[in-house]
Amino acid sequence: MTGSTWIRAASLGALEDKGRLVFRKAGRQIALFDTPGGVLACNNRCPHEGYPLREGNLDNLDDRCILTCNWHNWKFDLQSGRNLYGGEGLRTYPVEIRGGEVWIDLADPPFAERRAGILASLREAGEDNAYDRMAREIARLHRLGADPTPADWHKLGIGKALARAASLSAAPPMRLFHALLGANARNLLTFDAGQQHRIRIAIDDNVGWLDFTHGITFANAVRVQCARFPELWPAALLQMACFSGRNAPYTESGTDVGSWRVEDAGAFMEEAVEGLFDHGIDEFIVSVHRLKTVMAAREELRADPPAEVADLITAGLNRFLHARLKRKQVRRNVYQAMKFVARDG
Ligand code: FES
Repeated sequence: MTGSTWIRAASLGALEDKGRLVFRKAGRQIALFDTPGGVLACNNRCPHEGYPLREGNLDNLDDRCILTCNWHNWKFDLQSGRNLYGGEGLRTYPVEIRGGEVWIDLADPPFAERRAGILASLREAGEDNAYDRMAREIARLHRLGADPTPADWHKLGIGKALARAASLSAAPPMRLFHALLGANARNLLTFDAGQQHRIRIAIDDNVGWLDFTHGITFANAVRVQCARFPELWPAALLQMACFSGRNAPYTESGTDVGSWRVEDAGAFMEEAVEGLFDHGIDEFIVSVHRLKTVMAAREELRADPPAEVADLITAGLNRFLHARLKRKQVRRNVYQAMKFVARDG
């Protein structure tokens, strides 16, 4: 089998000469062992405290190859990575020999499998009162992103936002939905309003308040439609990630987030709905976006999202409703028109 995750790790001759080698790739250290049962590969850093397993002892018992860490005597089945003594298991890698070269597959196991393994180990650690192991497994769970939060999409552009959503695709859809809804609400809350006043920018950067409201209104449509047609979840969540990635580059860290926080969400929403009947906005496209955003926010709040997400929705809406929208962009339009005509006539 060939695939982009397979990589040449060493020459078989060099490994046979030394018996064991360490191969390094993108921060990983992978130990290769020449054993009677063939070449085996595992993480070089022991899952206990990270000491090098290349220096461990190898024993062949029956058909099994047992690797013992020299530091605290943890033992692993080197074929499967299963822990035989100590705590958690060891990451092993599929190996192939091709034309005198050792190749290994760096592909991660599926998300669901990794998550299940970590949770099982966490349970065992809890039963053993092994606090250090619990801490490591929680850190692994966190790194896996098993519990997505709005912050996971902070400042990610489109490509990375989509990749993040795809990497979490085994998480329950509503978890991902709430995290992405929160990410879009946070974008609305932190929009760099100065973007409205920039003139010498590309047409692609014509981003304003209304673009940010789409992150909320689209999310509302996603939840409602996916409840009826669950097969739409993957595409809908990716589109939510796309909205987040599209808008995130136009947010700023300096927004005084706390000043937009809403203490009484019920009263705030009541006032926001009342304001829809007498807002004084003469441009219909703006008033329609205001209507859609307030209604979508109200429905999402009624659907009882996690508190963090609810806070982001009300704070983001609060800022939007008090924003000054610059809609007419005369100098920018002239600048972009001149650039366009100069290029294409
Ligand atoms: S570092 Fe390997 S057993 Fe402790």
